[in-house]
Amino acid sequence: MGLNHVVSAIAAAVHSVGRASSGNPPNCIRGSVGHNNRMANDPIHVERDGHVGIIRLNRPDVLNALSLELMRQLVDALESFDNEPDVFVILIAGSEKVWAAGADIKDMAGASVVDMYERNQFARWERIRRIRKPIIAAVSGYALGGGCELAMHCDVIVASETAKFGQPEINIGVIPGAGGTQRLTRAVGKFRAMDMVLNGRFITAQEAERFGLVSRVVPREHYFDAALKLAQEMAGKPPLALRLAKEAVLKAHETTLTEGLEYERKLFYLLFATDDQKEGMTAFVEKRKPQFKGR
Ligand code: CAA
Repeated sequence: MGLNHVVSAIAAAVHSVGRASSGNPPNCIRGSVGHNNRMANDPIHVERDGHVGIIRLNRPDVLNALSLELMRQLVDALESFDNEPDVFVILIAGSEKVWAAGADIKDMAGASVVDMYERNQFARWERIRRIRKPIIAAVSGYALGGGCELAMHCDVIVASETAKFGQPEINIGVIPGAGGTQRLTRAVGKFRAMDMVLNGRFITAQEAERFGLVSRVVPREHYFDAALKLAQEMAGKPPLALRLAKEAVLKAHETTLTEGLEYERKLFYLLFATDDQKEGMTAFVEKRKPQFKGR
């Protein structure tokens, strides 16, 4: 991306975050984005807690299997939050029992290659990649197949000590299709990824933390609160710097070290165009708490 693109991207972001600051006060507004009638059998539930947009997967009877409809609603909700100026961080959670046991096998069992091609279901997953705000995954119980891949699409994974991660697609005659072979390998390295992808091995939360697949492991009973607390802390940071920080870290997967360093430096310089940089550094010098405005 050239400097001009970066400048226009930052200008657009400054504009949209700037609008946020003139909106409602941030404290604990519980409501919903695009889902005003929360139904017990909706495949996802959407709510707000201050500047955090929360999405909960809700197909308990099938261990939150990621049906086409669930994925459609999930991606729409993510984009809705990404476009909502007053949301700074997004949190996705399953239940305490299960994050998600993968793509819905019953959706796919009888499909032909043409059905799968026409469905183009992975185009939706591509849209998750384009979400600019940080996404935190609160994972408890199984995160398997597409469930593990969904967690790996997020930016931070807070795992309960009961979480289990795996790519067991090999057991049903396929391989991961939503990035599992690529993201898992980048996270844990070739040999651990091979063990999981070729043999369908599940790993525990503690192993996942040791291997670099999760950010933190927390007690089961507090896993959601711990993830929400982290999301709230992050949402207190300057929102524009937050997005650019995510963009810079993700760039590390896409490019060479030299290009990545240059990219980071340009984003660093560009943040000196924001009021929040002036406020953050002045507050430090004056030994007070900064008041970020997202401009
Ligand atoms: N799709 C559809 N239904 C699923 C499902 C899935 N991925 N995982 C579980 N379920 C359903 C089961 O069929 C069962 O439904 P019924 O009560 O109607 O029989 C219900 O959820 C409970 O599951 P189990 O009885 O199997 O529960 P368990 O505790 O004995 O086992 C499990 C739990 C080990 C997670 C087991 O359910 C399992 O192996 N699930 C499949 C995991 C898997 O293979 N995931 C990969 C899917 S393919 C994929 O994700 C491709 C991709 O890259 C996008």
